[in-house]
Amino acid sequence: MNTLFFGKQIIHLSEIDSTNNYTIQLIRQSVMSEGGVVITDNQYQGRGQRGNLWLTEEKQNLTFSLYLKPKFLPLSQQFLLSKCICLGLVDFLTELGIENCMVKWPNDIYVGNKKIGGILIENLVQSNFYHSIVGIGLNVNQTKFEGLESVTSILSETGKIHDLRILLEQMCNNLERRYLKFTQNIHSVNEEYLKYLYQKDVVAKYSDEKGVFSGKIIGVDPIGQLIVKKQNQEKESTYSMKEITFLT
Ligand code: BTN
Repeated sequence: MNTLFFGKQIIHLSEIDSTNNYTIQLIRQSVMSEGGVVITDNQYQGRGQRGNLWLTEEKQNLTFSLYLKPKFLPLSQQFLLSKCICLGLVDFLTELGIENCMVKWPNDIYVGNKKIGGILIENLVQSNFYHSIVGIGLNVNQTKFEGLESVTSILSETGKIHDLRILLEQMCNNLERRYLKFTQNIHSVNEEYLKYLYQKDVVAKYSDEKGVFSGKIIGVDPIGQLIVKKQNQEKESTYSMKEITFLT
């Protein structure tokens, strides 16, 4: 691994319910080093955002957790870490020759209108600092996703089967490069996150507790809430994850 600390420790499991769960156990046992990765060939109860399941075919995709200890980042500004990881993934996919990568708020990775990967960051808070478990699921060599629409994979986008181990190494490089820049200036991620934000400044359909509406995403506030300008309304609306649904 050609990195400073990302992926220097790799714990490779043939199967596990969720790499995030397992990483939390290892942190509690003090056996994880910062930048360490827990990866599995078969994650049978992967967890996604909003309490969803993350389903993935055995040995076809990347499912792993990266352990970080961002002492420089107040927990209240955690969304910046999420932005940093999203940008690292966009860099990685772009380097593979995949164009048109986007971040669908809050942290889904899209190619055009199709999801290729997702991130679930969880924190273990201790008295004066916290541990971050950065769970990443990326579709690599799988091409059929039963029951799911608008999903893609690296194979579908590039026409090539990829070696998961080599991809992990490349991804650790891309993530670390972003992370090191981030440690120097936590706000460095803001502008680029907005540049890649899916449907930013585009009129699209959404729904919230009041019903269906047309509006434009105009940004994200410091705590990671989505800022939307509804059509025919002067004031902007701000949403947390469960409060808005993308309809287009
Ligand atoms: C999402 O898009 O909803 C987030 C998906 C995150 C899935 C990854 S796979 C590795 C890690 N372990 C888990 O249980 N979930 C994350």
